[in-house]
Amino acid sequence: MDAQGCLAILRKIKDVAFATVDESGKPQVRIIDVMIVEDGKLYFCTGRGKDFYRQLENNPQVAVTGLNPQFQMVRLTGKAKKLADQKTWIDRIFEENPSMKDVYPGESRYILEPFCIDSGELEFFDLGTSPIYRESFCWGEGAAQASETSTGQVSAAGSVKVSQKAEASDGSPDEGAAVRVGEEAGPARHGSLVGRGFQITDACIGCGKCLRGCPQQCITKGKPYRIQQEHCLHCGLCFENCPVKAIVRRGE
Ligand SMILES: Cc1cc2nc3c(=O)[nH]c(=O)nc-3n(C[C@H](O)[C@H](O)[C@H](O)COP(=O)(O)O)c2cc1C
Ligand code: SF4
Ligand code: SF4
Repeated sequence: MDAQGCLAILRKIKDVAFATVDESGKPQVRIIDVMIVEDGKLYFCTGRGKDFYRQLENNPQVAVTGLNPQFQMVRLTGKAKKLADQKTWIDRIFEENPSMKDVYPGESRYILEPFCIDSGELEFFDLGTSPIYRESFCWGEGAAQASETSTGQVSAAGSVKVSQKAEASDGSPDEGAAVRVGEEAGPARHGSLVGRGFQITDACIGCGKCLRGCPQQCITKGKPYRIQQEHCLHCGLCFENCPVKAIVRRGE
């Protein structure tokens, strides 16, 4: 899974939840269509009279989420940018989504304004598989600010897969294990969706309590024990139960 794959899932779901913050700081959420996904960008549109539009004008930060029938969820945070060439983009959106002509016949379509989201953070969370599987990504410009590479280093690349893998699913160390991902390599970079969850520090005494209680059995024995980040629910049970407080929140 990568950023384009996540955006493609949102396009396929199409009717997704878009959250904004209103003028009084309250969260607001509504269903909006993902009209186009192209070149790592997500396009949508809304009417100039809507509260949604006003909120985007006041504060372009949005959070978007959708779920497909396979119980795969994609979540995104980013900044919605209004597109300059309004008529061209609205015509393009109507070409790609012909049912829009029934809702906005004729010239009425030009009450709509086109927006795109071209950067931010993405999370893919698959609850349809066992153990669960998750990954998070930064994408687009500014990805360097909140990205970890597989060696835990900050990357300047434009579209970055943020590794949450500590080791391969068979329990063997993966190729980046010499510097354990997001754990030994200094504090994990913490974004809205990236670098979250828990990690086990060197204070671990190897008692095994975390592994015995973990609902996904995604902790591997070792010195210290290690969380398989790609399978972790972020439930916090290990964090609450470690007798020596060796488990800490990532990025804190
Ligand atoms: C399936 C579905 C798809 C929708 N797609 C859009 C859309 O793409 N753009 C839009 O402005 N409103 C769309 N709407 C309508 C908005 O959800 C509705 O106008 C909402 O009230 C807008 O948010 P607001 O009340 O905060 O302005 C859709 C509604 C549904 C049920
Ligand atoms: S519960 Fe704490 S000390 Fe025990 S194995 Fe897990 S992390 Fe280590
Ligand atoms: S937070 Fe801890 S107990 Fe919960 S799934 Fe992740 S590793 Fe397992």
